Amino acid sequence: MSTGDAVPLLAVEELTVRLAPRHGVAFDAVHRVSFELASGRTFCLVGESGCGKSLTSLAILGLIPDIGRIVSGRILFEGQNLAGASEAALRKVRGRRIGMVFQEPMTSLNPVLRVGDQVAEVMEYHWRLGHREALERVVELFRQVGIPSPEMRLRDYPHQLSGGLRQRVMIAMALACDPVLLLADEPTTALDVTIQGQILALLREQAEQRGMGLLLITHDLGVVASMADAVGVMYAGRMVERASAEALFERPLHPYTRGLMQSAPTLDCLDQARLPAIPGFVPSPGALPEGCLFRPRCAEASEQCLRRPPRVRLGDREVCCWLHAQAPSAQLLEED
Ligand SMILES: Nc1ncnc2c1ncn2[C@@H]1O[C@H](COP(=O)(O)OP(=O)(O)OP(=O)(O)O)[C@@H](O)[C@H]1O
Ligand SMILES: [Mg+2]
Repeated sequence: MSTGDAVPLLAVEELTVRLAPRHGVAFDAVHRVSFELASGRTFCLVGESGCGKSLTSLAILGLIPDIGRIVSGRILFEGQNLAGASEAALRKVRGRRIGMVFQEPMTSLNPVLRVGDQVAEVMEYHWRLGHREALERVVELFRQVGIPSPEMRLRDYPHQLSGGLRQRVMIAMALACDPVLLLADEPTTALDVTIQGQILALLREQAEQRGMGLLLITHDLGVVASMADAVGVMYAGRMVERASAEALFERPLHPYTRGLMQSAPTLDCLDQARLPAIPGFVPSPGALPEGCLFRPRCAEASEQCLRRPPRVRLGDREVCCWLHAQAPSAQLLEED
């Protein structure tokens, strides 16, 4: 999946993460996932719960849970393969070259430390700054992420801040060491709808201003539409479709992507909970169906779907589905 000579900021190549739960069979929670992300661009990973989005981003940071490991593939970050990198090498990258924002700021912030000190600590650790100098930078960062009266907010504890402000603190922390790549895993799910929009706008603005790559994980196609340059749709650990955001929304190819779009809220109805979902469930890892993993839920499934679908390349997009295998420009990559 090379795009010429320039080294992309991030190139995930055929990444497979296998989990071996203590009670149960081992399974690939991420299976041969590939995508690229360039500086200043936003790539969205989208898909239902449990499809492997978080594990993909955790793998980039070398933070997969103990029961898991990367069994194949490469994670090229600025040309360096982070899959299999030493813990010491990963620690230099994590929080410094790569920033991260998670879903629930309350679990990521230390409740007994003042937020200013927590953000300062990142710079003290990575940049060996003194506390006072670090705090001065925190004020500037807080200002950049839109925290009002930053000098005063420094002294607050997490519980004294609203959810939106806490997430701004998390973003300030992620930006503290001027990362070139930001991983944001459902950064707005825990927030009110109006605040969600503000936080997303902030992420986008910071990514643009800083020329950072942004890997944004979401289950919300509305968020994808407003943020992404390119999109990877995941289903049961596989990336079943990958395309530019423009192409994806203009013409979704995978029946799963189309299903997600049909169940996506319109702009004036953002309450996901009340929307029709795709019928059926994501298969459980121990009982994967034969052939295409989406087959049991797919209205367009036919006999051939009992065989694993090929990866079909159509120009610069890809889809894992038999429906497109006969398209005139289709280039079939090996069976999955
Ligand atoms: N620590 C863990 N122990 C056991 N199974 C895990 C663990 N972490 C993830 N899994 C499993 O790996 C699969 C992928 O999980 P992952 O967290 O990446 O999904 P996700 O797409 O981020 O879902 P969500 O939208 O709910 O956050 C799921 O089947 C999940 O149950
Ligand atoms: Mg997740």
